[in-house]
Amino acid sequence: MPGTNRREFLTGSLASLGAVGIRYPTWALSTAPVASNSSPDQLLLGVDYYPDQTPEALWEEDARMIAEVGFTNVRIAEFAWALMEPVEGKFEFDWLHRAVQTLHKHNISVILGTPSAAPPPWLTVHYPEVVEVNAQGMRLRPGGRRFTCPTNQTYRRLSLAIASEMARTFAETPGVIGWQIDNELTLGSSPRCYCNFCQAGFQAWLHTKYGSLENLNRSWGTVFWSQTYTDFSQVPVPLPSGADANPGLALDYDRYQSYANSSFLEEQLTVLRKLCPKHFVTTNNVGLPLDTIDMRSLYGKLDFVAFDNYPGFFDMILHQQGKPGSLMSDVIPATVALGHDFARSIHGNKPFMIMEEQSGKAGQSTFSPQPEKGQVRLWTYQAVAHGAMGVNYFRWDTATFGAEEYWHGMLNHDRSKSPAFEEIRQTVKELKALGPEVLKSPYLAEMALVFDYDCSWAVKIQPGHYALSYTDQVTAWYGAISPSRSGIDVIGFGDDFGKYKIVFAPVVYVLSDAAAARIRSFVQNGGVFVTNFRLAVKNESSQIVQTPLPGPLRDVMGVTVAEYGPIYSGKQGVKFSSVLSGPDGECGIWADVLQASRAEVLGTYTSGSSAGRPAGTMNSFGQGKAIYIGADLTPPSLSRVLQKLAESAGVKRPFEVPAGVDLTVRMAGDKQWIFLLNHGPKPQSINIPRAFKDLATGAAVRGEVPLDGYGVRVLQASQLSRKITADTHPA
Ligand code: GLA
Ligand code: ZN
Repeated sequence: MPGTNRREFLTGSLASLGAVGIRYPTWALSTAPVASNSSPDQLLLGVDYYPDQTPEALWEEDARMIAEVGFTNVRIAEFAWALMEPVEGKFEFDWLHRAVQTLHKHNISVILGTPSAAPPPWLTVHYPEVVEVNAQGMRLRPGGRRFTCPTNQTYRRLSLAIASEMARTFAETPGVIGWQIDNELTLGSSPRCYCNFCQAGFQAWLHTKYGSLENLNRSWGTVFWSQTYTDFSQVPVPLPSGADANPGLALDYDRYQSYANSSFLEEQLTVLRKLCPKHFVTTNNVGLPLDTIDMRSLYGKLDFVAFDNYPGFFDMILHQQGKPGSLMSDVIPATVALGHDFARSIHGNKPFMIMEEQSGKAGQSTFSPQPEKGQVRLWTYQAVAHGAMGVNYFRWDTATFGAEEYWHGMLNHDRSKSPAFEEIRQTVKELKALGPEVLKSPYLAEMALVFDYDCSWAVKIQPGHYALSYTDQVTAWYGAISPSRSGIDVIGFGDDFGKYKIVFAPVVYVLSDAAAARIRSFVQNGGVFVTNFRLAVKNESSQIVQTPLPGPLRDVMGVTVAEYGPIYSGKQGVKFSSVLSGPDGECGIWADVLQASRAEVLGTYTSGSSAGRPAGTMNSFGQGKAIYIGADLTPPSLSRVLQKLAESAGVKRPFEVPAGVDLTVRMAGDKQWIFLLNHGPKPQSINIPRAFKDLATGAAVRGEVPLDGYGVRVLQASQLSRKITADTHPA
């Protein structure tokens, strides 16, 4: 598995999200459940602060200024291990106490970070074996961060010791409200460890999973290339070995590494729960399209999801790829929205937090551009519009030393105010005015997009076409389903499909029996399921199924895959028919040629030996419909097709918005709030067909309403407009 750093993970998925420009907001009126009460009582509007990197003489001034901005919390200490435990077993928390006290005096609450993302030098010198081994089999060196093994018992013991000592020390300290465990477990230059400890951990995990060697050997098909194991201790990790690893072993290794990280976090969670029952516990990560750890397991037992968000960073990456755009590019807001929708969906439509929100130029050795005036506010609202309950900005002051000297905060290097300082102050004021009723309300989604880790990892192991990437497909589908980035939950096969009108699931390459059953009953009971090529090719052991494709879903889809294959220099087109009638489409990198047993043909290939043969079908099964898109449709036909299908599934729209504008809905009880966000620099005009209350001004708005460049409006539905909408769109 190749290493993933922030740069690489963005590169792939950004490349795939083509420009889509069709208008498509959604709307519904059913009441959603109110937010559960395990989120913190107070609003989390804050900043990430580093007293450990700041002379103590400045703490008081910092605390006063942080309070003046209107912030309610800071997150601190997540990289301060060396100061908290300068020598093994000798803890020094006096400085941290003083920092917490100073902040608390100014009514700033504190989220404490446990410091296991960056161990001090004494630790790695005494215990060099805790350092991670990368995918080439080379041991990393200390000096950066995120370079430790998730399995290693010594590292776990030492991480737990400092976390426990912090928990004991700060359990009753006034001002402390919660915890962030570690820091971005997802993100490092080498997201998998291949050391001997991981190998032993993997073997033990396999023993529990398979029970017997016979079972393991059968599941992986180890008779191939003489790989039959006669003892669990013989099982290798997928390091370079002259040829590709066994696909079953490789997929299990991804699962094991994800599990190892989750269980590493869970050890700290157990201690924090025990010692600090009054505090909330979360962690921060980069979400989709990064897929290194299964976020559903990682956040499963935490109080709420917290993600980090750096939209401006993407611009630098696009430019580097030779696609100079600007921060207004539609690709960026869509990719960011996908991350937010995933964050919200992990705990089932529960408000999440942004633990780090970009506040200025970002970068380690190079800078991303200075956010345009209004953009930091816009990005904040985008998170809120998609379900955030709180936002912390990264970071308070800008470091004058260390690897992140270029990562700008709210104070410049000379402690003058950054260009976005006042904008952030204003945004915080506005969010407080919106209040908990809005910020903690659920989000409205009638559609779901599946993200499945097994599929993502298995496609990475054997993409079939070098350019096929599961995360790219999911990202492209996300942008195509709704250009206004509205009303999509990002769910797994373990989630309830029943509440959606339509579920989209591209490249379901690995299909478990349970997932097949879920799809079947969803369609049976009236749902619309839309999928594409490579459906059900593999079982959970990563073996190719022995039945014609799409394996157990042949009757549901009403088709058999007659042929399949990658497309390189050849060209393939698609002609659409029936409900999908419209301009011809282009097939990108893959074509499944279908044979419709029962399904209606909605598209046919136009060239070569597949000409005239089905490229897309729709089958009525039970009360619902199952759509198979065999061709890898490129934009714009992918957008047209997916949006057409959503429309025919009954997904409703409150009103149209122009390209480049987000429209999302949050609701609680009989109240609804519509967020309109303009991601471009030019003013837009929105035609609002019914009367809404503009929350900023309190005035009623209707008709043509201007939306400034990078502007935001929050509208509250009045009783009247709800009634009219209900009449217009009967459930
Ligand atoms: C991440 C980390 C922070 C900091 C910022 C900026 O999100 O969590 O510690 O490194 O990025 O790089
Ligand atoms: Zn390891």
